[in-house]
Amino acid sequence: MILIVGGAGYIGSHVNKMLSLNGFETVVFDNLSYGHRDFVKWGVLEEGDLGEIIDIRRVFQKYHIDAVMQFAAFTYVGESVEDPQKYYLNNLRNTLNLLEVMLEEKVKYFVFSSTCATYGDPNEIPITEDHPQNPINPYGKGKYMVEQILEDYSKAYNLRYAALRYFNAAGADPDGEIGELHQPETHLIPLILDVALGKRDDIKIFGTDYPTPDGTCIRDYIHVLDLADAHIKALERLQNGGESDVFNLGNGQGFSVREVIGTAEKVTGKKIKASEVGRRPGDPPVLVGSALKARELLGWQPRYNDLSLIVDTAWRWQQKL
Ligand SMILES: NC(=O)c1ccc[n+]([C@@H]2O[C@H](COP(=O)([O-])OP(=O)(O)OC[C@H]3O[C@@H](n4cnc5c(N)ncnc54)[C@H](O)[C@@H]3O)[C@@H](O)[C@H]2O)c1
Repeated sequence: MILIVGGAGYIGSHVNKMLSLNGFETVVFDNLSYGHRDFVKWGVLEEGDLGEIIDIRRVFQKYHIDAVMQFAAFTYVGESVEDPQKYYLNNLRNTLNLLEVMLEEKVKYFVFSSTCATYGDPNEIPITEDHPQNPINPYGKGKYMVEQILEDYSKAYNLRYAALRYFNAAGADPDGEIGELHQPETHLIPLILDVALGKRDDIKIFGTDYPTPDGTCIRDYIHVLDLADAHIKALERLQNGGESDVFNLGNGQGFSVREVIGTAEKVTGKKIKASEVGRRPGDPPVLVGSALKARELLGWQPRYNDLSLIVDTAWRWQQKL
């Protein structure tokens, strides 16, 4: 059985669906602080909090867990700057709780949601896995610390892991059963689509004077189903004897904020009002990842390699909300 921690959230629920469709048995562990009960349509849901080690032990005693995927975290970069303790306790300490129980129970495969935020402000694009990691906020630092701890644990204990550094997750299940629903929402594509739906007046563009062709920030958007596929491939690689490793997960192609708005206008057929405001501190101008390593070692090939395909699945989902 695969334990999906944080599997009631956006990415974890899509991974749960894909694992189930591929014949894996799954159990989702989530405290529903940000997740949604009705996103757990596959496998079983065990409610519990990673902060309570007895909750974790209970699940490992109830089920035969072969591998763990860890999605649970707080994910708001700005909040992590204002309240770092909240982030270090949940994203770092609580991940250590999970690893503690895995070691007790001798479960040895671990797939971890890391992030391109561990690179900080990059000095080379596209970013490869060996680019220096200099995270610039507590959210990114906590993820980086977990990666370092995993390195030590895998050397010392019988633990093998894949740390997956996602770029910007986007899109939704094309069947429309689940999708992106963060509360509050801070991600660009759902915010833009809310403007198209008339739920928001405008989309704020933070900074139009970056050293990019149109002056707005450039990001690498990767479809949530492509992420899910990479998780399964990473898990199977570990189960087949693969070594612990880290992988970037991105499309290798960047789109500016204005390009994303333009694509959303084409997909939705609606005019999207944008207002230009100042830069946000800590936003690097360009974040684009090289996913060559995942292609070579995992045989992973993103299928949603066209931004309009990604926006289209998000649009179909968001119209139903
Ligand atoms: N969304 C992105 O673009 C992105 C990019 C890079 C990395 N990530 C990472 O991917 C992971 C998933 O992101 P998401 O967008 O699906 O977030 P999400 O908030 O939708 O999902 C996280 C889930 O974890 C649960 N959770 C949080 N703390 C918990 C705890 N203490 N005990 C039990 N459950 C808990 C929440 O209830 C939620 O269901 C996170 O670790 C995030 O840092 C996301």
